[in-house]
Amino acid sequence: MTERLPSTGAPAAPDAPATPCRSDEVVLIHLVFRRLFGDAPGLVRDVAPGDVDRAAFLARHLLGLTEMLHTHHRAEDAFFWDRMAERAPACGLHVTAMRRQHEALSDELDVVDALVDDWKAEADVIAAEHLAVALDQVDRALAVHLDDEERDAFPVLDEVLSEVEWDEISAEVGRERPALPLFLLVGLIMDSLPESERDAWIARELPWPMRAAYRLVGRRSYERQLQRLRPAASSPKGSRPLA
Ligand SMILES: [Fe+2]
Ligand SMILES: [Fe+2]
Repeated sequence: MTERLPSTGAPAAPDAPATPCRSDEVVLIHLVFRRLFGDAPGLVRDVAPGDVDRAAFLARHLLGLTEMLHTHHRAEDAFFWDRMAERAPACGLHVTAMRRQHEALSDELDVVDALVDDWKAEADVIAAEHLAVALDQVDRALAVHLDDEERDAFPVLDEVLSEVEWDEISAEVGRERPALPLFLLVGLIMDSLPESERDAWIARELPWPMRAAYRLVGRRSYERQLQRLRPAASSPKGSRPLA
């Protein structure tokens, strides 16, 4: 029997092992999505009407975020569902549910992208609210999807995919250049981990030049990016764990 991290929607058990299942690598990415999509509606609502510079900055962030979720789902569609349906036929309903949730989210992300374009030129308050409502909807649907995926799919995938296949998936995903700044993503993941596990995560997941770069300049770069993203926050959310 495998032990696993709790859903990213649930508090971590104090005695949870660091990386007991390969799908935990994906759970860490989910934490980043939960955090960034959770923040997004409020960031848009906080923009002063007519502040087109701030709107342009946030538009780039939001379009990067939607692209990153599309990329994440394309990878899951390519590597997970056919294999899960074939090797665990009793889980066919879960596979169908995952595919449908991805399709629905893809449509909702397209709506967000169009509303970002509508909003960024003038940063007017009505366009901002339309965009924020669409982001609220994505945040809710994504939370349901990530909970379902972590509960219904990942335990099965941990059983039916080999270590070699997980390594291939990691390598393939690692070749993609992320649509958001890498240090922002690394910093968010680091903040989601207990302090005692951070060095081990960096050693395992980052090639040495990136490790050195993160320690030298990446952490400060992350803090600056987070501050720019959330200037109104009195204490950066990055200083607390995500879960
Ligand atoms: Fe998914
Ligand atoms: Fe996922």
